[in-house]
Amino acid sequence: MADRVLSSEADQLDEQLELSLRPQRLSQYIGQHQVKENLKIFIEAAKLRQESLDHVLLYGPPGLGKTTLAVVIANEMGVNVKMTSGPAIERPGDLAAILSSLEPGDVLFIDEIHRLPRAIEEVLYAAMEDFCLDIVVGKGPEARSIRLDLPPFTLVGATTRAGALSAPLRDRFGVLARLEYYDEEALANIVMRTGQLFEVEINAQAAYELARRSRGTPRIANRLLKRVRDYAQVLGDGSVTLGLAEQALGLLQVDPRGLDHIDHKLIQAMIERFGGGPVGLDALAASIGEERITIEDVYEPYLMQIGFIQRTPRGRVATDLCYSHFGYELPSQNE
Ligand code: ADE
Repeated sequence: MADRVLSSEADQLDEQLELSLRPQRLSQYIGQHQVKENLKIFIEAAKLRQESLDHVLLYGPPGLGKTTLAVVIANEMGVNVKMTSGPAIERPGDLAAILSSLEPGDVLFIDEIHRLPRAIEEVLYAAMEDFCLDIVVGKGPEARSIRLDLPPFTLVGATTRAGALSAPLRDRFGVLARLEYYDEEALANIVMRTGQLFEVEINAQAAYELARRSRGTPRIANRLLKRVRDYAQVLGDGSVTLGLAEQALGLLQVDPRGLDHIDHKLIQAMIERFGGGPVGLDALAASIGEERITIEDVYEPYLMQIGFIQRTPRGRVATDLCYSHFGYELPSQNE
């Protein structure tokens, strides 16, 4: 995913620190109530039966905590987690190496699972279903298939686009969990939790302001907190108050709904160049110099969620709400 705020070396250290400070157990994980309640039951039942947890597919927009949840699941089950991603597995041998290193009950986390090559998906089916691995060794008339038994394991797949998964792969997950955008209260609690871990003093009003401007996404909330902390240390006494948060967010060009300069550019192009739509995604992407997939996965879902953009069969359309938020006159009704 495209990072909207460039990251420096110090940020990368922060990022590592943040990774280590992420919630480790379900009880520490804020928000996603429905998903958590369901997982709690499935985990407890699997433990009672002394079985591995059924395979879990986590899907939803980026930044909502899919990786964190995979780690939490492994911790709750009391097993190890191995992490990889769809594009990192290029050959069946790569998958075989990972799978054969698992211990009974382990969690294998595959991020961006929709980007697994088709040939690998097919190897994965048997591994998921029968805990065995059929690999072809040799070439031509010499080729033969050998079968490796695997320990039972839990595949946790994560994707921003469940629709891009092939049906046979999707059908092999016993648990499908859709992560939703976080509400303001959950995000404010996350900001306060991260603030404590980073030893940043932040008052509740400021935490709520950051929450309102984080597009429902903890990753954005935590990133904004780090930037606002910079302003607090340089311009103030280090503590984050509402006034300081507002000033810093203004300087960061994050508007009161959390929309940044890229959202603004997108909306401006839709309205000024395409008359508010309908406009096709490719035309829109070309006009602002972003990739179609980035608009589709990163920018558009939140703009749709807050009712600024609608998807129609003929393309994307800016809504009246969007026109008024950005201070445009509404287009005439009889056009
Ligand atoms: N940090 C990032 N996401 C979080 C969550 N859902 N709960 C607690 N802390 C978090």
